[in-house]
Amino acid sequence: MSSIESVLQENRIFNPSPEFVAQANVSGMDAYKALCAEAEADYEGYWGRLARENIVWKQPFTTVLDESKAPFYQWFPDGKLNISWNCLDKNVEAGLGDKTAIIFEADKGEVTKVTYRELLSRVAKFANALKGLGVKKGDRVIIYLPMSIEGVVAMQACARIGAIHSVVFGGFSAAALRDRIEDAGAVLIITADEQCRGGKNIPLKPAVDEALTLGGCGSVRNVVVYQRSGGPANMVAGRDLWWHDLVAGQSETCEPEWVDAEHPLFLLYTSGSTGKPKGVQHSTGGYLLLAILTMKWTFDIKPTDVFWCTADIGWVTGHTYGTYGPLACGGTEIVFEGVPTYPDAGRFWKMIQTHKASVFYTAPTAIRALIKLGEGHPEHHPEKYDLSSLRLLGTVGEPINPEAWMWYHEKVGGGRCPIVDTWWQTETGAHMITPLPGATPTVPGSCTLPFPGIMAAIVDETGHELEWGKGGFLVIKRPWPSMIRTIWGDPERYRKNYYPEELGGKLYLAGDGSVRDPKTGYFTIMGRIDDVLNVSGHRLGTMEIESALVSNPLVAEAAVVGKPHDIKGEAIVAYVVLKRARPVGEEAKQLANDLRNHVAHEIGPIAKPDEIRFGDNLPKTRSGKIMRRLLRTLARGEEITSDVSTLENPAILDQLKEVVK
Ligand code: PRX
Repeated sequence: MSSIESVLQENRIFNPSPEFVAQANVSGMDAYKALCAEAEADYEGYWGRLARENIVWKQPFTTVLDESKAPFYQWFPDGKLNISWNCLDKNVEAGLGDKTAIIFEADKGEVTKVTYRELLSRVAKFANALKGLGVKKGDRVIIYLPMSIEGVVAMQACARIGAIHSVVFGGFSAAALRDRIEDAGAVLIITADEQCRGGKNIPLKPAVDEALTLGGCGSVRNVVVYQRSGGPANMVAGRDLWWHDLVAGQSETCEPEWVDAEHPLFLLYTSGSTGKPKGVQHSTGGYLLLAILTMKWTFDIKPTDVFWCTADIGWVTGHTYGTYGPLACGGTEIVFEGVPTYPDAGRFWKMIQTHKASVFYTAPTAIRALIKLGEGHPEHHPEKYDLSSLRLLGTVGEPINPEAWMWYHEKVGGGRCPIVDTWWQTETGAHMITPLPGATPTVPGSCTLPFPGIMAAIVDETGHELEWGKGGFLVIKRPWPSMIRTIWGDPERYRKNYYPEELGGKLYLAGDGSVRDPKTGYFTIMGRIDDVLNVSGHRLGTMEIESALVSNPLVAEAAVVGKPHDIKGEAIVAYVVLKRARPVGEEAKQLANDLRNHVAHEIGPIAKPDEIRFGDNLPKTRSGKIMRRLLRTLARGEEITSDVSTLENPAILDQLKEVVK
């Protein structure tokens, strides 16, 4: 509840400055309202107009939205296009060939710049190499690469030939990688020998080798390895190929595969409340449209901008605002290999200064961490750097607390840059609720109003819209072009998860709780309503972590909950029952450590529990249901005041208060 109260008490309002409004792509509240009104009046007409104006189609569409198979919606179904053509060739043909497309800064600071012409040639060569390996339209390709120009090239090359990419974040373990390879039925994996982060070289290729020995990966024919550091790559003859060998001698032109607008562009695995991560399937045309529109309207992108989204390509933010959006708009973007704290906590600010970044987009967790580090080390404080190139700031991934918002506004934005707090999800493809910086007055902690054409609302458990001021489920009432199309291989799960019968089957259920300000209608996100945690902006299912824990032979049962954390937003607390007696003292410490490493091995270091507590049992009702509510109260260190007499084993609660340090 604290987040609602803090918003209701939050009365600081920041109006866009007249100078910003004057130059903005959407200038003033009336312009925002006019777009919303156009969408209200003629929904298909609105999206059709925008799709014609913003995308270059090989074959124009005649149908805007086909709802006949709802909730499997189709957008622009008879249109044909290629997204890589729209990101590269289009810009070269428009005279931007010599413009810098990507400024790449490596972990240790080396800078490489690539023009649109060079990027197109590199994408074409790599696309030809993929074709040479027999990769065809519709084949799935796993990309397990660090932040790099090659990462963008690999994604664009897949899109160029109509192959469906599925990027797996480099921080995921071999086991997590294997699950994704198997589910996607991938024919090819693109990886690197190592990734360089924070001054360290971290092996990547060995995780691929391990994943391929775990079974279920029979679909994989080849592994392409980009030589990043010269680290051990253990090339397997006949299966593994060096990137540099493959592209050598390839033609610099590659006719794009013209695909239907609905052709799947990518799968991206994300966590839900049940089972294994699900492969969120995105389309080509509708996805591209919202990538472009949000770049233009939310980020107010201009030809002179230097745009920097700090997200890794392993997440949806790195797809829409790293690989596709900025390039489709002919922008110059920064791609950063490293971490914000290396060589010191001034890295982001130094990079903004060096590259004259004008639009900067990052996660609240990074801001909170840098506040702490910056305030403790004045030499790394943003005020020590020249950040005058900045004109717009953004955040994404989790709620931003008003204190962090204010710091970002004052210390990074110099009080002059609007902040766009963008609410969206892997499934939505692009921003759904966000200020438009030249139109929307902002309030710290609120993502404000829906993007024009997005019909967001808050409903109760029966699907009835609630009056402003009442908290409920965040839904989107009408399909939108960049929405998830299905869960790969599991359409029924898609339908049940996102269009539940309980809400009438016609509302997209986001999985977040939200409330609208009673006066302004501004949205504030209260966090997930399901068993999904948001740890440092990373989305993790409690079930996934529980499954990882119980896959350890020592563990009989596990329950995972979140608790608020100053910097990470949420921390992971795991309650564990062993098959043997409850450990105490040194043994407990050792076992907790082993289990944390076990989770890192099963999922990745990002899923390591922050705290482990051992019990002889978990608090259960007489019918055997685990009382998670009580576990959450215990995790927060609060007293349980509710009646626990219905518990089968109330005494267990005292045991579970004990944290293994
Ligand atoms: O809970 C919301 C939170 O992140 C979830 C989506 O996570 P993911 O699919 O990994 O995508 C993250 C990047 C788009 C949402 O359900 N979330 C995202 N943005 C915000 C947010 N919570 C509050 N405010 C936001 N701006």
